[in-house]
Amino acid sequence: MLQPTDGGYTNGYHQAGGGGGNRVRRGSRGRSRVRRGGGGGSDGSGARASQWQQQHEDEEEREKPATPCTDFDTAYFHSYAHVGIHEEMIKDRVRTDSYRNAIFQHQNFIAGKVVVDVGCGTGILSIFCAQAGARRVYAVDASDIAVQANEIVKANNLSDKVIVLHGRVEDVEIDEEVDVIVSEWMGYMLLYESMLGSVITARDRWLKPGGLVLPSHATVLYMAPVTHPDRYSESVDFWHNIYGIDNSVGVPFFVVSAIIPLAKQCAFEEPSVETITVENVLTWPQVWSYDLILIFVSAPFHGFAFWFDVEFTGPTVLPLNNDMPPSFIEPSNSYMTEGNHRKKRPNPNEALVLSTAPEDPPTHWQQTLVYFYEPLDVEQDQVIEGSLTLSQSKENARFMNIHLEYSSGGRSFVKESVMR
Ligand SMILES: C[S@@+](CC[C@H](N)C(=O)[O-])C[C@H]1O[C@@H](n2cnc3c(N)ncnc32)[C@H](O)[C@@H]1O
Repeated sequence: MLQPTDGGYTNGYHQAGGGGGNRVRRGSRGRSRVRRGGGGGSDGSGARASQWQQQHEDEEEREKPATPCTDFDTAYFHSYAHVGIHEEMIKDRVRTDSYRNAIFQHQNFIAGKVVVDVGCGTGILSIFCAQAGARRVYAVDASDIAVQANEIVKANNLSDKVIVLHGRVEDVEIDEEVDVIVSEWMGYMLLYESMLGSVITARDRWLKPGGLVLPSHATVLYMAPVTHPDRYSESVDFWHNIYGIDNSVGVPFFVVSAIIPLAKQCAFEEPSVETITVENVLTWPQVWSYDLILIFVSAPFHGFAFWFDVEFTGPTVLPLNNDMPPSFIEPSNSYMTEGNHRKKRPNPNEALVLSTAPEDPPTHWQQTLVYFYEPLDVEQDQVIEGSLTLSQSKENARFMNIHLEYSSGGRSFVKESVMR
């Protein structure tokens, strides 16, 4: 049950404990895999949590969380307490403008209605919904950033409309059905961070039949073979000639056979988030359910790039009852082709699409690259066959295992990596 602190829903800021530990990031990562900042909740978060625990002891007795909050989840939420990550997301105009446009395009569905913002962060999407005329917005976030969200809501005189709930979507209580769910849940390679499950939980807990979910669809994943000689050269060829010492002929201090495998492992073992251009792409991308790729350009094939898009369409595509399978994600057609040029898949509804493709304006998601240790020379019209399996890591459900099998020219390869 929702327990507003001041009676009624006005400014019903509700705390269910903050986080602690290290951050899992969404910030700039790139090859160096730098994680942003250390994150951290305010010193008072523990006290607030205890206060909340006392106030809600009876409720906790009655209602256990659907899924336990692990130490990894706590670290994950702690990472979102850091303002830098929110700054980066809000500065991503492609992302934030897409959400704002989608919210205002669906104003008819939002005005006068009840909305839940799953993972509200600073509250920006909740405020857009309030501006679009929502009667009430439940802004839910388990991270301590909810404290700031509540202050931002108050400072904008929206406390009568936007109720910040500091807790997990799985745990907080909202005692009415909602008309709309808005959430920015996408991680690298779409599914990294494993936040989609929480959106589905929110849908199953609160969404009215036929309600609106923004975004409504996600293209599972685009996958394209890429060539990236510069990247390979920077990380591997570099070691062949250090200060004029040519390792290819074997010089004592830098023995090439010792350093090169390590350099390759260091550079290519894990997926890498970076921006590529259309010149890197060897053929138009296929959605992951396809198992054949035809190479368009002869070049060294260094790995695969992945990206996604999400679409914001009206409620007609949503399930009318909870027995139906989730419709958030569905495979779509691959890119259409016209000669050697790629064209985006047709968009008959003219729906608003947030794209993270290399030919579109850059976003903070960039593209995710899975490099091979050895490039493979491919010829025009050569066929690559393979499969991709993504699974949640058993080590940490926020991590993602990537299992890639591919074969071409009579040779087969397997690449296993973990996105941490
Ligand atoms: C990608 S950020 C989006 C923030 C904000 N909506 C925006 O667009 O700027 C995702 C937010 O969801 C929160 N979050 C993730 N899973 C959650 C869950 N199960 N319950 C509550 N909050 C969650 C995170 O703490 C984080 O602040």
